[in-house]
Amino acid sequence: ESYTVLLPAAGSGNRMGAGFNKLFLELDEKPILIHTLNVFEKDSACDGMILSVKEEERPIIERMLEQYSITKVKALVEGGAERQQSVAACIRAHQTDGIVLVHDAARPFIRQEVIVSLVDTASKYGAAIAGVLVKDTIKVALDGIVKETVDRSKLWTIQTPQAFRYGILKEASDKAEAEGFLGTDESMIVERIGVDVRMVESTYDNVKMTTKEDLLFGEVLLKHRRQ
Ligand code: C5P
Repeated sequence: ESYTVLLPAAGSGNRMGAGFNKLFLELDEKPILIHTLNVFEKDSACDGMILSVKEEERPIIERMLEQYSITKVKALVEGGAERQQSVAACIRAHQTDGIVLVHDAARPFIRQEVIVSLVDTASKYGAAIAGVLVKDTIKVALDGIVKETVDRSKLWTIQTPQAFRYGILKEASDKAEAEGFLGTDESMIVERIGVDVRMVESTYDNVKMTTKEDLLFGEVLLKHRRQ
């Protein structure tokens, strides 16, 4: 089944400390944003991309799309102060039934097999998200005192893509907006409307480029994948 991907790209990347949008930082002489878009440009199941961007960055991004021959971008919409608002802008711009993926523009290493699995699962059940089982021991601590050790066999670290039938995501987004609810991912707003969200096992290398260390890891990953 085919899908459309919504890509929030309107962050500022304060934790990266670059002083500009971290998506413009380069890995192997190509902007992170382009690495991510290329994944979907090359996937024949991807019908189109909708990006949310900062208004002042629109010209830079338009130029990049042209320079790197990215052809599937259907719209660049204005992002918001919070990631959820940037995604909501993409959702409003789409308005078409079918499967939509929401994917952080800052995750260039997503694997094709995971995309396929997410699209299949969302087509069947309506909602599916990528994640990996936590590797560390997780504890709850209050005022510096350990209160509890959580059973990690059921704990997942959540990534993007997150895949939904459009109608489900639209309803969830409208409800969150109307009620002023701010989630940290799309699944949270979908869980709130009572839809079961399925876990799809992803890979540990689908990292989000957030801090300087992530860039180092990114360089190594790229080198490894080229071999
Ligand atoms: O800041 P963080 O890396 O968690 O952001 C994840 C993704 O969401 C990035 O691709 C970033 O550009 C995007 N974002 C956005 N609008 C915001 C904040 C983040 O589109 N207000």
